[in-house]
Amino acid sequence: MNDANPRATRMRTFFTRFGGTAYGGDYNPEQWEPQIWAEDVRLMAEAGVELVTVNVFGWGLLEPEEGVYEFAWLDQILDLLAAHGIAVDLATGTASPPAWMAALYPQTLPVSETGVRAAFGGRNQYSASSPVYRRASAALVELLAARYADHPALVMWHVGNEYSGVSYDAEAVVAFRLWLARRYGTIEALNEAWGTRVWARHYGTFEHVDVPSVAGHEVRNPAQRLDFARFTSDAFLECYRTEVEILHRYTPHIPVTTNFMASYKPLDYWSWSKVGDVVSLDSYPDPRDPEAAVEAGFAYDLVRSMNGGQPWLLMEQAVNAVNWREVNVPRPPGQMRVNSFQAIARGAASVLAFQWRGTRFGSEKFHSSMLPHAGTASRVWSEVVALGGELSSIPAADLGSIDARVGVVFGFENWWAIEQGNLPRQPRYLAELMGVYRELWNRNIACDIVEPGADLSAYSLVVVAQLYLADDATLESWRSFVHSGGHLLANHTTALVDEHDALRWPGYAPQLCDLAGIRIDELAPLPMGEILTVGCPACGATHTASNWLDIVEPIGAKVLARVLDGEYAGAPTVLRAELGSGSVTYLTTTIDGAALGHLLEDVCGLAGVVVPPSTPPGVEIVTRRGARGVETVFVLNHGSAVAVVEVRPGGHDLLTGHAVGAVLEVAGRDLAVIRYGRPSSGAS
Ligand code: GAL
Repeated sequence: MNDANPRATRMRTFFTRFGGTAYGGDYNPEQWEPQIWAEDVRLMAEAGVELVTVNVFGWGLLEPEEGVYEFAWLDQILDLLAAHGIAVDLATGTASPPAWMAALYPQTLPVSETGVRAAFGGRNQYSASSPVYRRASAALVELLAARYADHPALVMWHVGNEYSGVSYDAEAVVAFRLWLARRYGTIEALNEAWGTRVWARHYGTFEHVDVPSVAGHEVRNPAQRLDFARFTSDAFLECYRTEVEILHRYTPHIPVTTNFMASYKPLDYWSWSKVGDVVSLDSYPDPRDPEAAVEAGFAYDLVRSMNGGQPWLLMEQAVNAVNWREVNVPRPPGQMRVNSFQAIARGAASVLAFQWRGTRFGSEKFHSSMLPHAGTASRVWSEVVALGGELSSIPAADLGSIDARVGVVFGFENWWAIEQGNLPRQPRYLAELMGVYRELWNRNIACDIVEPGADLSAYSLVVVAQLYLADDATLESWRSFVHSGGHLLANHTTALVDEHDALRWPGYAPQLCDLAGIRIDELAPLPMGEILTVGCPACGATHTASNWLDIVEPIGAKVLARVLDGEYAGAPTVLRAELGSGSVTYLTTTIDGAALGHLLEDVCGLAGVVVPPSTPPGVEIVTRRGARGVETVFVLNHGSAVAVVEVRPGGHDLLTGHAVGAVLEVAGRDLAVIRYGRPSSGAS
């Protein structure tokens, strides 16, 4: 493919295939007798299904014995789907190696931290470092790619499935040593980086370095564990990259993806998002969790940001209950629809489910499906069909951008480092980060999620929560952002260590402190349950704080708030340094949600970020700006009660065709998609 941006070209071709939003799900026909397949394709047409993912776990059927391949069943399925105009996201099936691999090559099975080798019987049962797995999976992918390159049903490749797991097997040890040798060059450099003079844990050669499985006594070296986490993510990424390269070689015009799980800790999805053609997400919000819409919003913003703001794919969701929670309650009527539109609002160009037809066997037999066990008379089926109809009029890939002027920094390496269990108080990184995101979501303030070290020039305000590990590039990105007039809000436990988990020095977080006009004298974690009272005009007068306190001395920064009583009475909690037209606001403690919301409004004011008018609780508004002044505003009511929402008059609801005035009544678990600048639906 002779193209400056083959990724964009492949995706454009893919999206053009679907007039509106690509709709469908995982299809596992191999679990059913062929007589059922004809009914499947008939009902897919009825539901408006245009795209199915096939062969996710097919390896054992495609290669029943080592080197013996049987493609006939897959040929038949793909031909049937093509004949009915249904496009296929063809999985490579490599997520789950067959039984023979485990039996003939037990060394391919992953080994737990405590040295227990996994048995065959589940799925994803392989070590990413295994040469046997790598060879056999690549061989299968070559054959699949050659066989189906020109198949009319093929529109996308789906590599593996939810890459996951951590393995401490013998082959991982070998691969880890090689990875370290590449990273450090010499063993002296590794010793330096890992601080091995502590407890005299220095190494004479890479051959002596082991994986950080259970250590005899005391905690293992955090720098070693951090590198092992990096290695694990990279090992899986190499597997993914190998398949992507094979597939691009055979089918340069077909996009390739793999499905992410948003904030899945073991994989640094920032680096993963740079491989393949599009970021895909599996999303399973808990039907009864009042925070579900906020958490889903974060996941959607994260993958949109990882995908450079371009349309991404909702690869899996459950149309009703899942099977893997303690109690798997059904999704109430309307919820699946609102969540589907929430994904579209935040950038998805597909709504796909796990799975098309409910299975009879195995551990997922109680998992919901588009075509439920209860059949076409069911409530779920009618919702599935209705959604398919609606989505055909929503040109999801052409809705334009979300103009986010706020960036929230989120780093996987930081997550690995900060939760290793040796800080003055053990942080819960995602909880701290979600505390910030929730307040932005509650106020409908659009934000991107930003990779540490990324260029921040698109933003007016950048929020950093407990980014304990900050490498030099990250510190430099903050410095240049603030010196070019940007506004940074950062809190405690930030920039304390470098990329090797070694304390920055002299003093605590010296580079950040320089920027923030403060000196941290002491780290004072608060005991569980201890609550401070804080006086803070910028955060709405008096509020509470907990978790942590940096004891700081202002060196140029203004103190905006202080602890009012108790042991730490008088200690500053919010400080602000002004640097030209930019500023750094530093929070020494974890303040309650309401106060954080006020503080965010305050820094938004400083940064010139307009805070939209407030909406009733549970109502989310997302604006997309398309070409030629066309705007699409999603008003999503996640709550069960009617909500009255003020909107800009002059638009039309794309779903009902009705004109929209200044006040909109949205029923519980309902929504409106308001189009401005063009009276009816259709590509903008
Ligand atoms: C996903 C997985 C699917 C299915 C689904 C059930 O994590 O990719 O294959 O197991 O969960 O919710």
